[in-house]
Amino acid sequence: MPKDVIIACDFASETETLAFLAKFGSVRPFVKIGMELFYAAGPQIVAKLKEKGHQVFLDLKLHDIPTTVEKAMRVLAHLGADMVNVHAAGTVAMMEAALRGVSAGAGTRPKVIAVTQLTSTDEARMQKELLIAKSLPETVLHYAHNAQRAGLDGVVCSPLEAKTIHDALGSGFLTVTPGVRFAEGDADDQARVATPAKARELGSDYIVMGRPITMAPDPAEAYARAVSEFLGR
Ligand code: C5P
Repeated sequence: MPKDVIIACDFASETETLAFLAKFGSVRPFVKIGMELFYAAGPQIVAKLKEKGHQVFLDLKLHDIPTTVEKAMRVLAHLGADMVNVHAAGTVAMMEAALRGVSAGAGTRPKVIAVTQLTSTDEARMQKELLIAKSLPETVLHYAHNAQRAGLDGVVCSPLEAKTIHDALGSGFLTVTPGVRFAEGDADDQARVATPAKARELGSDYIVMGRPITMAPDPAEAYARAVSEFLGR
């Protein structure tokens, strides 16, 4: 199972993103393009980063009726991303449609993973605002089960949930985990956080780190630290 650190490139433009990645010299980290950058820079940003040698996780969190998601995924499949995602809350039928959509492209299809509950959501909000009466871990696990039933490759979840998910769904079911912070770092708006070392211990397959690397005085050094703590070397 590949283990890697994915940098969330939550920037407002292509120029800012390329300037940031230039700080890494010949190192080509796995990067995550989220809504902000994708909407600002346009779909060609994916091809541009792929050409430079980066692996790309396109984090657009699709959530719509199955037909719309299938058609949108058909378009995304041609962009060359290595990983794409949907909200598991869209139902099994929507996730199956997403998979049909990405499988329509030529060559290897990107991995498709599902967001269970956002790592910024805590149990109180989930219960009070979303009216989900179950516990957060139960809800996350149930959504992960749905994603597996739909044939998806894994889920986005908190590192704190990675072990439970692997125990229930197998080690081959990917856990991609944001909400990662260095021991002395600020949690920002993340509610369920762990350090890279803790994420490794809990069996996370990919950790996603944004601000602890993008806002660091020396991003390349912060990235190297994350890789070293996460991979244990
Ligand atoms: O800056 P930070 O490390 O908090 O960035 C985490 C990234 O992971 C952000 O781009 C955020 O959108 C994304 N993400 C998340 N929680 C999820 C899914 C994605 O934080 N459940």
